[in-house]
Amino acid sequence: MRVGVLASGDGSNFQALVEGLRLGTEAEVVGLISNVPTARALERARGLGVPAVVMQHTQWPSRVAYDEAMASELTLRQVELVCLAGYMRLVTPAFLKAFPMRVLNIHPALLPAFPGLHAVRQALAAGVRVTGCTVHFVDAGTDTGPILAQAAVPVLPGDDEASLAARIRVEEHRLLPLAVRAVARGEVQVEGRRVVLKGPLG
Ligand code: GRF
Repeated sequence: MRVGVLASGDGSNFQALVEGLRLGTEAEVVGLISNVPTARALERARGLGVPAVVMQHTQWPSRVAYDEAMASELTLRQVELVCLAGYMRLVTPAFLKAFPMRVLNIHPALLPAFPGLHAVRQALAAGVRVTGCTVHFVDAGTDTGPILAQAAVPVLPGDDEASLAARIRVEEHRLLPLAVRAVARGEVQVEGRRVVLKGPLG
């Protein structure tokens, strides 16, 4: 399965996905799009030999026009599944229409707890003992789509946002390739709010 990634920042999940998928044959990352020209993800793409393009959203007249342009770019590359990996913009229904139930996002909390920005900070502020990460299908809401996979991470005494985020990141890097490979094997079916897995992840 041909996978495209959208990323705005560091791109550690992008790299983990590229490397994780190279361990198997089910799926490969065939391209990266970043809306931020200075994103470290772009540097990582060069190092990994993955084609990357910058599409700065400010150069399009509207969100819809931008999302349509991105969808065309991905379609040109025959992308079948899109992963949002630290992509800091909401995608519009125009984009989702081009990839129905074919867009995944990775979020640093156990959804539906702590959606939106600063999920790790939100978890610390709420005083939870356990948080984690979620891979979910993207729908029109903010981090509301059907949940494919989750991993729990303990909150330890003395944790700050950086230490907890780093521990969550390790689980993200493990979970995202597993989730994508399961989709590529055709073992993932979305039934309303629920995602049915036809085999174990991994
Ligand atoms: C990750 O924590 C991801 O869950 C969230 O944004 C962060 C991206 O990190 N959506 P990176 O750019 O992949 O390092």
